[in-house]
Amino acid sequence: MNPNPPYPGLFLSFEGTDGSGKSTQMRLLVEHLRRDGFTVVENQEPGATHIGLQIRRILLDPAHQEMAGMTELLLMFASRAQATAEIIRPALDRGDIVVSDRFTDSTLAYQGEGRGIGFDIVLAAHKLALGDLLPDRTICMTLDVETGLSRAHKRNSSSDEQHKEARLDRQSLEFHHRVAEGYRKIARLEPERFRLVPGDGEPGAVAERVWREIAPLLREK
Ligand code: TMP
Repeated sequence: MNPNPPYPGLFLSFEGTDGSGKSTQMRLLVEHLRRDGFTVVENQEPGATHIGLQIRRILLDPAHQEMAGMTELLLMFASRAQATAEIIRPALDRGDIVVSDRFTDSTLAYQGEGRGIGFDIVLAAHKLALGDLLPDRTICMTLDVETGLSRAHKRNSSSDEQHKEARLDRQSLEFHHRVAEGYRKIARLEPERFRLVPGDGEPGAVAERVWREIAPLLREK
């Protein structure tokens, strides 16, 4: 973690394999921070901006089976560059807390490890698109891959809108195991920033685990 970030705000992100419960936990953290009086700006990737949502539709459309790994990687960064310019940078400069549902760690895990493109290429693309910007702390929810995928499949078949987003969670089980390994690799490389938090148990109990990883940063602010 950068001890002297070049902005007055705080940048947090959530990560995890599909169906790991990260979006629920992100919502609970955002509610907690707002109750405590912080101004919180949310971001979601891919998506969040008008342009990003159009990129998300292209990326997650199950009809786009022919999409090359490199196309997928560059579209992820295109959406991220737009969200950074429109949402993340201005909020951090104002001194707000940004909480992002996924960021570059997703690209390391899914495209870098899952697709086999490698961390070095993902990090080079990150440098080109975003320079040095990384979250100050990342919470990565861990959950058994099979359990998470069955949750994600149920969710994506329960509504027409979500059904249109199924391309990535329909990848093979081996792909999702590689993604989980990608996350464990980031945790070994960056133990200070990147915290693995077990996602099993009641959402309230998991939220307490998440809070323990975030609270020390709020005292530093
Ligand atoms: P979501 O379901 O958490 O909104 O994420 C959408 C899908 O996109 C999910 O399967 C993970 C995938 N993804 C990547 O493959 N690379 C990335 O860089 C990001 C942000 C998401």
